[in-house]
Amino acid sequence: MEPVKVVENVYWVGAVDYGVRDFHGYRTSAGSTYNAYLIMDEKITLIDTVKNEFLPELLSRISKIVDPRRIDQVVAQHVELDHSGALPGLMEAIGREKPVYVSQTGEKAFKAHFPGTELNYRAVASGDSLALGRMSLEFIETKMVHWPASMARFCPQLGILFSQDAFGLHLATNRRFDDEVLRRVWGYEALKYFANILTPYTGPIAAVLKSVVDSGLLAKIKIICPDHGLIWRDNISEIVNCYARWVKQEPTRKAVVVYDTMWKSTEKMAAELADALSVEGVLVRRMSLKSCHRSDVATEIYDAGAVLVGSPTLNNGLYPTIAELLSYMRGLKFKNKIGAAFGSYGWSGEAAKMVQAALGEMKFQMPAPEVRYMWVPTEADLEPVRALARSVAAALPKEQAPPDFGF
Ligand code: FEO
Repeated sequence: MEPVKVVENVYWVGAVDYGVRDFHGYRTSAGSTYNAYLIMDEKITLIDTVKNEFLPELLSRISKIVDPRRIDQVVAQHVELDHSGALPGLMEAIGREKPVYVSQTGEKAFKAHFPGTELNYRAVASGDSLALGRMSLEFIETKMVHWPASMARFCPQLGILFSQDAFGLHLATNRRFDDEVLRRVWGYEALKYFANILTPYTGPIAAVLKSVVDSGLLAKIKIICPDHGLIWRDNISEIVNCYARWVKQEPTRKAVVVYDTMWKSTEKMAAELADALSVEGVLVRRMSLKSCHRSDVATEIYDAGAVLVGSPTLNNGLYPTIAELLSYMRGLKFKNKIGAAFGSYGWSGEAAKMVQAALGEMKFQMPAPEVRYMWVPTEADLEPVRALARSVAAALPKEQAPPDFGF
């Protein structure tokens, strides 16, 4: 694939990873990209690199524009290896003495990631500016978006924000720009990315968004070049507004009923809960972990007001897939959720109680105790399940959930 011109003298030279399906526990069903950008100015500057295995692809694209040895400097925005893995190899190719601009926190992190590789790191702080010739790059610290060492860059002459992980999405395609991909595709993938990667950092993201608005920077942005997925040139206000909404984690009248089942008793309860919630006018996503991945569940949870988790009891404990889901949810630190627990059992019946306790520890509001069944529930036995659904529905906001994630 050829490099792609973003604007005159700025090129996308990254890599498309059609095969990746796991990104630290997130199922990247549509693959991903690792975006790197080449700025042709008096000082030829590369912004970010790619996963190490894609170094030849990066060098090949750069070579179609300029001999890589002519690159004068590298700006490394994020030390996570999907963006920095190829850095040592790249520096070997272009000249190790060339400066690599990193954040102050980043310098230590880069050295720790590449021990024994002596690179010419230059630490910069928020507000510092790097002259390229006709253009310049202003550094904006974005700690915890997505790692402590993260930084973004703004080119005031072009109105381009190089946003690093922020505004990214995982989507492998040969189209590079947002207006070349269906809105419902980028809408879903952007939410999935936010839900699975950025949810724990909504506080720092809200602070960065506020400073971008307060400083007047937002009005100057014409293009956003993130490190994953599409370059935003047509839907900048839409994606920024999505982030402004998503950081609030406002509950909607939507419930996710997520469960696994051993001999279909817990599934019977899940089906009854979903039906009873529907009767109450709640938008319901019923998700069996036999067919749904935890990262798809997290995406659905994101704009839901309630999460109802069902687990059979296995060997006095949680069903393994539910234990894994709860661990994943705990890490994501969802806010403003209502929870409920249910599950079937044969003789000891600990699982539903454990789910109830786990959701409580995640600070979910729990409007009713867990509902459990021994063996196989009959139709008459399911009334407490319907009552649980009514308790959850009563605690949800009255207005309907926005369809299609509110787009
Ligand atoms: Fe795309 Fe935080 O790495």
